[in-house]
Amino acid sequence: MNKIIILAALSILGITACKTTVRQAPDNAEKNLNKRVDSVLVLMTLEEKIGQLNQFSGDGELTGPVALRPDLLKSIRDGKVGSMLNINGAEYTRKIQKIAVEQSRMKIPLIFGYDVIHGYKTIFPIPLGESASWDIEGVEKAARVAATEAAAAGQHWTFAPMVDIARDPRWGRVMEGSGEDPYLGSRLAEARVRGFQGTDLSDKTTILACAKHYAGYGNAQAGRDYYTTDISENSLREIYLPPFKAAAEAGVATFMSAFNDLNGIPATGNKYLIHDILKTEWAYKGMVVSDWGSISEMIIHGIAGNNYEAGDLAFNAGVDMDMEGSVYLTELPNLLKNSKITTAQIDESVRRVLRLKFMLGLFDDPYRYCNTDYEKKTLLKPEFLNAARDAARKSFVLLKNDKQVLPLNPAVKSVALIGPAADAANDMIGNWSGRGEGKDVITLKKELETRLGAGKVIYARGAGFNDGEKSGFAAALAAARRADVIIAAFGEAGMMSGESMSRADIGIPGVQEELILELAKLGKPMVLVLFNGRPLILTKVNATVPAILDAWIPGTMAGPALCDVLFGDYNPSGKLPITFPYALGQIPIFYDHKNSGRPGSQDQKYKSRYLDIPNDPLYPFGYGLSYTQFAYNNLNLNASIFTGDKPLEIRVDVKNTGLVAGTETVQLYIRDLVGSVTRPVKELKGFKKLILKAGEVQTISFTVTKEDLSFYNRNNIWGAEPGKFTVFVGTNSQNTIEAGFELK
Ligand code: NOJ
Repeated sequence: MNKIIILAALSILGITACKTTVRQAPDNAEKNLNKRVDSVLVLMTLEEKIGQLNQFSGDGELTGPVALRPDLLKSIRDGKVGSMLNINGAEYTRKIQKIAVEQSRMKIPLIFGYDVIHGYKTIFPIPLGESASWDIEGVEKAARVAATEAAAAGQHWTFAPMVDIARDPRWGRVMEGSGEDPYLGSRLAEARVRGFQGTDLSDKTTILACAKHYAGYGNAQAGRDYYTTDISENSLREIYLPPFKAAAEAGVATFMSAFNDLNGIPATGNKYLIHDILKTEWAYKGMVVSDWGSISEMIIHGIAGNNYEAGDLAFNAGVDMDMEGSVYLTELPNLLKNSKITTAQIDESVRRVLRLKFMLGLFDDPYRYCNTDYEKKTLLKPEFLNAARDAARKSFVLLKNDKQVLPLNPAVKSVALIGPAADAANDMIGNWSGRGEGKDVITLKKELETRLGAGKVIYARGAGFNDGEKSGFAAALAAARRADVIIAAFGEAGMMSGESMSRADIGIPGVQEELILELAKLGKPMVLVLFNGRPLILTKVNATVPAILDAWIPGTMAGPALCDVLFGDYNPSGKLPITFPYALGQIPIFYDHKNSGRPGSQDQKYKSRYLDIPNDPLYPFGYGLSYTQFAYNNLNLNASIFTGDKPLEIRVDVKNTGLVAGTETVQLYIRDLVGSVTRPVKELKGFKKLILKAGEVQTISFTVTKEDLSFYNRNNIWGAEPGKFTVFVGTNSQNTIEAGFELK
């Protein structure tokens, strides 16, 4: 290595960390950052630059075919790797980082990335469950805990949040997102970005976030993962893109391009999506990584004949980094030689990568995240476990509670605990559970036995999750007969949702439903605690089981959180972020649908209906009960004519009419009655969480601006149109009170 390069590289390592975020970099800091980036760039060979655009995986968690590569460590030494994923732990990351910064010519540190989706070691509820809390601060906090643990274990970058809107519960990845609504999804996307990244990326409690999968991935036809999407411009702009835009505006450091074919062009090669919308229209300054092998998958999609063409499509679309595909490594030099791409384009992508390395403080100290003592002290801290417990209990949704079966009396004499989920530690952390381990989980059985004393808990597994075996039924029914109360813990196994886990039949799997119905026939007080990574069809159990609590996949602190709610130490407050269908044939079903020219119900001929089932879902979006009740009164607006000059104020009185304190999520929906394109029957425009003592009344107010009434009109132009609007406020998307106003 020549002397100048060594000196320059050493001085680079001495550059101080740059305390900026992708969005907020103030002018001076931004200028300094750019200078530093350029000071490195100018020293790099073409090969080294392309190396920065290449990401390889370590040995764990491979989520697709591994591209052939000669020797990983040699590739790092040769400067052919800019980032690694799936390298875990302070010690291991230090070892690999050492190779990059001590043995490669440019000594540029690697970025380590990992799927930290709902916790790293302390596992929180799955994102869909967490979203059911509608708790912006809580969700932000969960992301911060995950970031703190991941950073302590050597990670710099999480491939989260997944902000794909999903309206088809057959799709296994609904578990990773925020559900069906763009407004809720956007607020939660921002919260997660803030949680992961904070305001200073060089802080040891923050890591880079990644908004994925850009875009439309959640719309997979037939709910089958990786499948085609065909989305109108209007739906793309109004339903699928808003959470991505919100994440970009919140300063998310990276985006991941999606696997899916979008309107004939796979997202990873979709110039309109990445170059035109993301990087130009939204002026996004962060870095775009492909999904795993999604560049070469464009050959299989049938839009590229070989890696050369696939690389051409992806790079010109604006994908900066190739995840585990080796396409950029081999093809960018040829594409440059043939003038399909330019050096300026390569430099621009490399800049986006180097910026992140500076922001993380890696040029200051490449080992800043590799300290085994700190790692040990940080993982599974009691305060993190408490946060996970709180997040879990806030995520539970009380779906039914006839005759006030819940809360259970803590002095209950005997409880029959039945079901495959009652003591299934691994199933409590579910898919994408980072380095979480079943051994750290407190199951429902364990916690119940601690609270009540083992003698009071009669446990029988009864059935497996999905094995078709009924030999355990008799023992389960016998146990139930002996007890005063039945707690039935059933649902999906932890790995039945997530990537490539689509299901065609989304009932409670296997023979479980049969056993639940048998248990219900005993006529005892019974609660079904449901574990699920997606909405399930619960129509039959809803008709017979008196109480149902949806626990999603609750995480490490499953048992304590569940007992808090079952025994009334915590009054359930979760609200569904996604519709639960009445029947499979209703899918896709979501609350903000269009009206059609013939809205109607089952008994009306020539109306938009089914002969055999109602149109309504079993449980609507926003639904969730409490141990108390809330009444909504006195909805009023400060004006019936709204000119847009000052915000419209909407006020409503919410009263706790029950006997115990409770948390309510007050939801605001709006309908534009006539538009230049048809508008949904309701759209969520705001929500507020409030705690009310028994008997207490609070007046809640929302403000609405013209922006809130805007949409993409007939000419695809964003704006509000004059006319009449209905305002709905209520406890869920169906149960609301309403008022009207006119926009002039
Ligand atoms: C493929 C998944 O689609 C993506 O979400 C994930 O981040 C990568 N694999 C890396 O594991």
